[in-house]
Amino acid sequence: MIIAVDGPAAAGKGTLARNLARHFGLAYLDTGALYRAVGLAVLESGGDPHDPETATSAAKQLGFDLFDHPDLRNEATGEAASAVAAIPAVREALLSFQRTFAENPPGERGGAVLDGRDIGTVVCPETPFKIFLVADPAVRAERRVKELRNRGVEAISAEILRDMEHRDAQDKSRTISPLVPARDAFVLDTTELDADAVFAAAVDFVNAKNGMN
Ligand code: DC
Repeated sequence: MIIAVDGPAAAGKGTLARNLARHFGLAYLDTGALYRAVGLAVLESGGDPHDPETATSAAKQLGFDLFDHPDLRNEATGEAASAVAAIPAVREALLSFQRTFAENPPGERGGAVLDGRDIGTVVCPETPFKIFLVADPAVRAERRVKELRNRGVEAISAEILRDMEHRDAQDKSRTISPLVPARDAFVLDTTELDADAVFAAAVDFVNAKNGMN
């Protein structure tokens, strides 16, 4: 079983994907972390995340050390991730890792949950279990502010909203693998839902697809 969870920033993908993985006993891959690690590697080397050569070389040399880096979840890293993610050779370099993880998940799990932007459209288009989360931008920005403040990071709501809308626009408008729901995705608006309600709706969708309801 492969479950794809896609959607824009701070729509609740990570929380839902982790909950689904636990519930169904599946492995979990946060694919945004791959793009973040590439973006961070470029920033750390003093390079420009929009430069295809620099970003592609970082993607090809990606090691696991950056995944524990304290700056991985920063807004600047998110912006750099979105920039490198628009470069076709970067996406190509990260594709086989994601597909291998989905098809041969670690720990002898019976499948995997992947969250990102193009899991249902490009990475695992054959899976019937595609969920696409959406939410009002102001609500998503507030969630991100809360998350940052919980981590002790100072955040200004208006700035977070502006940066998030810029990143969403960049992710939606790129020519390669843009952020768009797959035609057969279950689109769930989480604006008025808490994490438990999102989880319950997603489990209902998966079970119904599985013929268990
Ligand atoms: O999910 P996130 O906010 O950590 O992702 C950071 C950026 O990485 C996002 O703005 C776009 C890019 N990304 C992508 O293009 N494709 C994915 N499957 C996951 C993330």
